[in-house]
Amino acid sequence: MASEYNFVWFNGDTRMGLQQKGMHGAWASRWTFIMAATGSAVGLGNMWKFPYVAGSNGGGAFVLVYLGCILLIGVPVMMAEVLIGRHGRQSPINSMREAVTDSGANAQWQVVGWLGVLAGMLILSFYSVIAGWALDYIFLISSGDLQGVNGAAASAKFSELLSDPSRLIMWQSVFMVLCVAVVVGGVKKGLGIAVETLMPLLFVMLLLLLVFSILKGNFSAAVNFLFSFDLDALTWRGILEAMGQAFFTLSIGMGAIMAYGAYMPQDANIGKTILIVALFDSSVAIISGLIIFSIVFATPGIEPTEGPGLMFISLPVAFGSMPGGLLIGAIFFVLVSIAAWSSAISLLEPCVAWLMEAKNIGRARANIVIAGTAWVLGLGSVFSFNIWADYKVAGFNFFDFLDFLTANIMLPISGLLITLFVGYVLKKDVIDVEMEGTSPQLLALWQMTIRYIAPSAIAVVFIMGVYDKFFV
Ligand code: PHE
Repeated sequence: MASEYNFVWFNGDTRMGLQQKGMHGAWASRWTFIMAATGSAVGLGNMWKFPYVAGSNGGGAFVLVYLGCILLIGVPVMMAEVLIGRHGRQSPINSMREAVTDSGANAQWQVVGWLGVLAGMLILSFYSVIAGWALDYIFLISSGDLQGVNGAAASAKFSELLSDPSRLIMWQSVFMVLCVAVVVGGVKKGLGIAVETLMPLLFVMLLLLLVFSILKGNFSAAVNFLFSFDLDALTWRGILEAMGQAFFTLSIGMGAIMAYGAYMPQDANIGKTILIVALFDSSVAIISGLIIFSIVFATPGIEPTEGPGLMFISLPVAFGSMPGGLLIGAIFFVLVSIAAWSSAISLLEPCVAWLMEAKNIGRARANIVIAGTAWVLGLGSVFSFNIWADYKVAGFNFFDFLDFLTANIMLPISGLLITLFVGYVLKKDVIDVEMEGTSPQLLALWQMTIRYIAPSAIAVVFIMGVYDKFFV
């Protein structure tokens, strides 16, 4: 039995060594874990999705619910994932298997690991396509082609990109190669060094853009928009979106954080560390929102409710009309690309780690197989914007389908299962070891959230989300 093989392989004589450091290695320090997890969390979700979803849902009220979800559902689930990962010190699939075996639980719980890795692979396939848009826009903005464009011209430029499969495939490929280049280097030299370099750079660029938006944009309108808690603007649907966004932005339910947890130093306090990551992630989302809305509100004729095109249509109009805007615009898209890059490597890593364990092959080969598969799958998303645009099943094109399947089906199910597993099934000893050093009050608070609050909230989101989609 294949599972038997893995189990023996990882629980042989080297088990003592693996306690501190799995076969894939470990982060150099707690700080590297924080950078890596923040790198995973901060991505297209913060810069592309958060502002437009907040914009379409009335701003402040949405932001309040979103932050509530991060704290009440996101943080506890993220802690649970890291806990399982660090206990197993392997890919999510095998860490989950180990947690299940150690708890003497039903083997079917292992589906959590599989769901996570599979979702990661599917997300990687379309994520790399969208990240490719951001890469393309660095050059498009720099070329000066967007100088002084109005909404219609910017929209035409965006459609031009989407309708050109070879241009999309080129950028998707470039992005995938960038990801492989990092992950092939392994945990310490590849991922570790990449996040330690990229994340500070990202923060510097973000602050630079923030200063620009304060000086040149309509900053007070942006603050008003994001922080005026007008509860009337809140709809049930907005609450659901806020919750889904909290999941996606923290990279939970997909194995990414479980995989990164497997490389976390044993002496790092999980609760404190995860709170820092969640704080960084939310701050980046809010700062991105402030930047984008300051610029949007300073440009007449552009609405915050623009939707997914907010970043690729509205922003170029705004940048194209401001002095120095093109340079700032190029920096903005470099920033988005870096954020997407440090997220995508966390989608690649769990799958690569699993393949290395399962097939006993080297990191380079595992990378090629996984990235190659995700790349081929990504072609489906590329074509869904042009030559396959008319092929729809139940109203979904290929890209919409993958987006919906992962974010609205796989992710909540896997998140729910994680809360139930850690809340009710996982052996107490494992929790005690991993949560050592946490005050009894905080531990009790976390356990209460993971047992009652998070699972019921996720269940409601899931049921309402699916109901909303198919029956309303
Ligand atoms: N959190 C990332 C973002 O906000 C997306 C992501 C999801 C990355 C799952 C890794 C795993 O863009």
